[in-house]
Amino acid sequence: MKTVREEFSSKFGFLMAAAGSAVGLGNLLAFPVAAAKNGGGAFLVLYLLFVFLICLPIVVAELAIGQSTQQSPLSAFKHPKKSLAKPFWSFSGFLLTLTPFMIAVFYSVVTVWLLGYLTITLQGRLDQLANPDFFSAFIKSDDLFFYLIGLMFILGIILFQGVQKGIERSTKILMPTLFILIVALALFVLTLENSLIGLKFYLLPDFSKINLEVVNGALSQAFFSLSLGMGILITYGSYLNKKANINKSATMLAGADTFVAFFAGLLTLPAIFAIHPNTNPADLSTSSVGLIFSYFPKIFMEMQPFIGYTGASLFAGIFFSLALIAAITSLISIFEVAVATVRDHSDLNRHVTTFLTLIIIAICTWVLAQSFGRSDFLTNFIEYGGTNKSLFDLIVDIFYETILPFNGFLICIYVTYHWKNLSNNLEKNNLLTTYTNISLRSIVPLLLLTVFLSTVYSKYL
Ligand code: PHE
Repeated sequence: MKTVREEFSSKFGFLMAAAGSAVGLGNLLAFPVAAAKNGGGAFLVLYLLFVFLICLPIVVAELAIGQSTQQSPLSAFKHPKKSLAKPFWSFSGFLLTLTPFMIAVFYSVVTVWLLGYLTITLQGRLDQLANPDFFSAFIKSDDLFFYLIGLMFILGIILFQGVQKGIERSTKILMPTLFILIVALALFVLTLENSLIGLKFYLLPDFSKINLEVVNGALSQAFFSLSLGMGILITYGSYLNKKANINKSATMLAGADTFVAFFAGLLTLPAIFAIHPNTNPADLSTSSVGLIFSYFPKIFMEMQPFIGYTGASLFAGIFFSLALIAAITSLISIFEVAVATVRDHSDLNRHVTTFLTLIIIAICTWVLAQSFGRSDFLTNFIEYGGTNKSLFDLIVDIFYETILPFNGFLICIYVTYHWKNLSNNLEKNNLLTTYTNISLRSIVPLLLLTVFLSTVYSKYL
């Protein structure tokens, strides 16, 4: 027997849950560094344009698909009437279910490391984290297993309690906490000598740095940051009351996500330059993993002359907590896609479904975590594009770098065919509704397909 579908209890609750999904490691790390490397203010302008002109219509579309069908992605794309197109929609639904599952697994690996780093910092062992050999030994260590159990336990407590009492209640506390911490840390960092050099690289526009690769990167970053193409907003949309106003929520979500990304830049870049004023932004690693686990612990240790070891540990502890909150609230949303999918296609209740989801993702996470030296086979799994890749690299390349824009393209096609139905739930005579309708039939799918094809070409051929 099917129970009544769960629902968010308030607009604020929904917004915090959706912002929790959107604000993740992408905002805290990848965005500021991409901006500093690729033209500062010029990159920011480009990013803003992509968020509001290209990604916002897809946010509206995903939420509308969920709200109108009240289904998770696997069934939201089923097409009852036109039987010829049915396999295509089933395939789209399948891709939008598989993608979040795979992203959940690789993102969990990184979050497990993060939980480990926070724990070690709180034990007063920041100096060990700053040792250049620590990270490579840590990701091979057996300790990971305990952190994995710890992470699944935290996620389990939240997801077990359902949409209102679990997801909504936790994100209503965690997200404001994150906003406050990030602003507080940014204000502190800006008082340090030389921090303004970082601001210069972040904010002063250098349009000469903008090339095709930068444009491609900015669009992919905006797309990932808003959690698009992962079935998350379809699932969260399916928990919206049919009367809820999507247009406003979508705009506020895009605004909140961009606001946090912007503030993260006011924190991380001034911190780096306050310690190393001569850093060349071009030398900063583009990998969020490299930054957070190898570079930042060193930076934190080097804050000692200003604030002592305890102060540096406190700063590091707050920073890792911030990153952990961002990662966990993102994981909640992506795990929920799997929970909702199983529940929509079985009679299992939330507790059983959550338990199964956690166990299966935990096993896959454990397997993927072996790609860093614990298993030779998984570490040197495959070779393409001229390099040896681990299983972890392969999953990131396929599901994060390649498939996401393609999923966005599929959503555009779906919306084009079903606009009449979907637009019933959108505000009438509204600029965003009209723009969504026009852009999802023209410029947006064209751009996404171009990004998809160019990624395939540059990565695999
Ligand atoms: N927006 C998230 C980020 O920036 C993307 C994400 C969502 C990743 C959900 C995993 C799970 O990190």
